[in-house]
Amino acid sequence: MIDLRSDTVTRPSAAMLQAMMAAKTGDDVYRDDPTVNALEAEAARLSGKAAALFFPTGTQANLVALLSHCERGDEYIVGQQAHNYKYEAGGAAVLGSIQPQPILAAEDGTLPLEQVAAAIKPDDIHFARTRLLSLENTHHGKVLPLEYLARAFDFTRERKLALHIDGARIFNAVVAQNVTLEAIARYCDTLTICLSKGLGTPVGSLLCGSEAYIERARRWRKMAGGGMRQAGILAAAGLYALEHNVARLKEDHDNAAWLGQQLQQAGLEIVDQQTNMLFVRVPADQVEALKSWFAQREVLLSPGPVTRIVTHLDVDRHALEQVVAHWKAFLQR
Ligand SMILES: Cc1ncc(COP(=O)(O)O)c(C=O)c1O
Repeated sequence: MIDLRSDTVTRPSAAMLQAMMAAKTGDDVYRDDPTVNALEAEAARLSGKAAALFFPTGTQANLVALLSHCERGDEYIVGQQAHNYKYEAGGAAVLGSIQPQPILAAEDGTLPLEQVAAAIKPDDIHFARTRLLSLENTHHGKVLPLEYLARAFDFTRERKLALHIDGARIFNAVVAQNVTLEAIARYCDTLTICLSKGLGTPVGSLLCGSEAYIERARRWRKMAGGGMRQAGILAAAGLYALEHNVARLKEDHDNAAWLGQQLQQAGLEIVDQQTNMLFVRVPADQVEALKSWFAQREVLLSPGPVTRIVTHLDVDRHALEQVVAHWKAFLQR
């Protein structure tokens, strides 16, 4: 199977599984798991934050991030298509009584600061209290410019808001911009990182922030059911991924760019391609046919009028050559 639906579909490699089997463990609720502690220390070091906390999923990390910033009746400003607004089952509102204030993102994935400013509520009993700006980097594959992040960070200081980055794919931004994680994370108060996207672990996310913030988050994580015990076997996969799977994300970016060029030469319209995501226009009346065409050829896609294709460590150039050949055959059928 060539699976291009998402970079979440990767399987742990033999070497990653070896690292997991060799992990030293302890009870992480007692803070006794040396491998979890090592992973959290490494995430803090890389992000330049004082502390970090390990979670089973990005959704739980984002939820706890919001719960640790906002109280009941507070509000976060967030993109209309952001994961922690649209794709997390409304968790902040349902479980935290935190109101989202979504706004449209610009073409480049940023949230225009004039519009953020216009969405901030005055201090008035009629309104929720605006507390937080939440950005996503990368957003649909788009890397937020550092210059924008610097302005957004200054803006939030002036307006007394906190700034959170959902960095599920932040290492794709790190590699694309050829900077350190700290060079991006310096422009936020808190950052979530997913290990189970392009970095290839089976599970795991991290939340990075100040000591006091992470202590608050630890309580919320426990309440959300995320206090795991011998989680070192999972953290070992994360440590392995941070050591071995970051620089190689460039291959995924190059593969997505290559595939985009090939499909364009075959006559398809490329809507966008950045980092490891490629968006291809498919005429509405061909979507179903394309889906079954590829399914019969052991290629998994999520076709739509704009079909998203995601490259990752389990698809190499050879696999993509097959995809190009199948797509050309589809166009000529
Ligand atoms: C941008 C973004 N944030 C957060 C998440 C949530 O991660 P998880 O699937 O581990 O809950 C995802 C998942 O695809 C995502 O794409």
